[in-house]
Amino acid sequence: MNSQLLFAGISGSLRKSSFNSMLLQNVEELLPAGVKLRILSIADIPLYNADLDKPDASMRPGTVQYFRDQLAEADAIVIVSPEYNYSIPGVLKNAIDWASRGEDSPLLKKPIALMGATQGLWGTTRMQQEFHPLFQYLDMRPVYKPEIFVAQAKEKFDEKGRLKDEKTKALIQQKLQALKELAQQIK
Ligand SMILES: Cc1cc2nc3c(=O)[nH]c(=O)nc-3n(C[C@H](O)[C@H](O)[C@H](O)COP(=O)(O)O)c2cc1C
Repeated sequence: MNSQLLFAGISGSLRKSSFNSMLLQNVEELLPAGVKLRILSIADIPLYNADLDKPDASMRPGTVQYFRDQLAEADAIVIVSPEYNYSIPGVLKNAIDWASRGEDSPLLKKPIALMGATQGLWGTTRMQQEFHPLFQYLDMRPVYKPEIFVAQAKEKFDEKGRLKDEKTKALIQQKLQALKELAQQIK
């Protein structure tokens, strides 16, 4: 099947000059043929409050419902996130919590690929590890390999925010191809 696929891209950093948002912009350039990327913002998603989520989902804040609708339209999700205190940044976890609730959650069984950039040496390994139980609980379909850990991020981008590291670019292309193949199988 050769129909067009849509990936939803989320950066786990709200920082203007974020390396992770830069990496996500690069993902757009490295997509396989037949795939489009739609970058979703989590900047305006309020803190999770179950009183606004149940029993009537029509009470959900508009930004949350929009986010969920955009995820539902996507065939797969690409998350590019920093590591905060060895874990998932709160803003990202909060957005995922909002998207995770209900039988109509757009995360259930969804193919997903993770990547991360850090200025440190470990390239978000511990943050990515923290996602495993979440994938399990939500029955998501993660593409684990190849793993994308962009360490010492400052050295990996040029002044225009383009990824300079050819090895990392090749790995990202492989990962996106694997995500495409999985999404095609499930579609
Ligand atoms: C609250 C906070 C916690 C952090 N914890 C970690 C950490 O556990 N591991 C790490 O490698 N870097 C950590 N850092 C440094 C980030 O990797 C670095 O600030 C990175 O540039 C953030 O990503 P961004 O450029 O996309 O905003 C932390 C930064 C902040 C603000």
